[in-house]
Amino acid sequence: MIKILITGSNGQVGAELIRIIKSSIDAEIMCTDITQKTKETEGMEFEYLDVKSKELTEKIFEKFHPDHVYHLASILSASGEKDPYLAYTVNLTGTVNILNACVKYNVEKLFVPSTIGVYGPEAPKEDAPVRHSSIPTTMYGITKAAGEMLFQYYYEKYNLDVRSLRYPGLISYRVPPTAGTTDYAVDMIRHAAKGSSYTCYLGEDTPLPMMYMQDAMESTIKFMHSDPDKLSVRTAYNVMSYTFTPKQLYETILKFKPGFRVDYKPDFRQQIAESWPHSLDISQSRHDWGFNIRYDLEKTVEDMFSHL
Ligand SMILES: NC(=O)c1ccc[n+]([C@@H]2O[C@H](COP(=O)([O-])OP(=O)(O)OC[C@H]3O[C@@H](n4cnc5c(N)ncnc54)[C@H](O)[C@@H]3O)[C@@H](O)[C@H]2O)c1
Repeated sequence: MIKILITGSNGQVGAELIRIIKSSIDAEIMCTDITQKTKETEGMEFEYLDVKSKELTEKIFEKFHPDHVYHLASILSASGEKDPYLAYTVNLTGTVNILNACVKYNVEKLFVPSTIGVYGPEAPKEDAPVRHSSIPTTMYGITKAAGEMLFQYYYEKYNLDVRSLRYPGLISYRVPPTAGTTDYAVDMIRHAAKGSSYTCYLGEDTPLPMMYMQDAMESTIKFMHSDPDKLSVRTAYNVMSYTFTPKQLYETILKFKPGFRVDYKPDFRQQIAESWPHSLDISQSRHDWGFNIRYDLEKTVEDMFSHL
């Protein structure tokens, strides 16, 4: 049985990752976060861990001695613009603390999600390549881009098997997202499920790459079990399922909930969304570790409604 440590386990991704690990891997799981234990982590080992603290991070590694680590603790794009220094310390100092602890305690594999936020406005909007020279314009993107470089550095300097996927906006039903720019998609579907109207904070014609959480988590587990010799990218691989605008999502929702109403009042997140690509080049992920997906947009919306 392997030992798996998860940071930021109470978030949108953590809730889903715990489930897929529990159902597919024979593992002892240690969940950690700065917020209280949730119903998703009930009956599991749970420790308070603020990843900004090197001492606390090492203490948890010393106590648990994980084989694999999933480092999900992060401050996302919209929250990061409200408190850039917090985003800097959690996303960079926190990540360096985890990387160092993984080296010190001989962790076999580390997974850290990256994001489409690493691209800046001058990156190609369509099929944005894995390697790019664009400069992100949010603190979230800056810290995540630096994180990707650190992954390659720790892989080369310390032989740490650190792996990363650039997730697009993730759509899920279990834990509502609270801090990202792509969250409108989940919010819109949730409002439609409740029978209430929705005011979207992005303009109706703003395209962004997205993915259903089931596909994101299955891909993550597949990626983590792929042959390390076949991995040619040690910064982060691109993954995504589909591109849609708020209007296209609204039209898909109408197929299931006729009468649902949306209006549009773009706020500061519009500028963030406009700095990101519409689609990513996923060919290397397909080639190196067999990335594939099961859910198109209509199937995603249908599945969301069946759970909400
Ligand atoms: N959700 C998405 O759409 C999306 C898209 C792209 C990338 N990602 C990446 O996936 C990862 C997880 O994101 P998420 O959506 O679950 O975010 P989230 O905000 O839902 O969860 C993050 C968790 O980190 C915890 N946290 C915050 N500060 C911490 C600290 N100092 N120490 C320890 N824990 C702390 C929070 O309490 C929270 O439970 C992040 O790296 C994020 O960049 C998410």
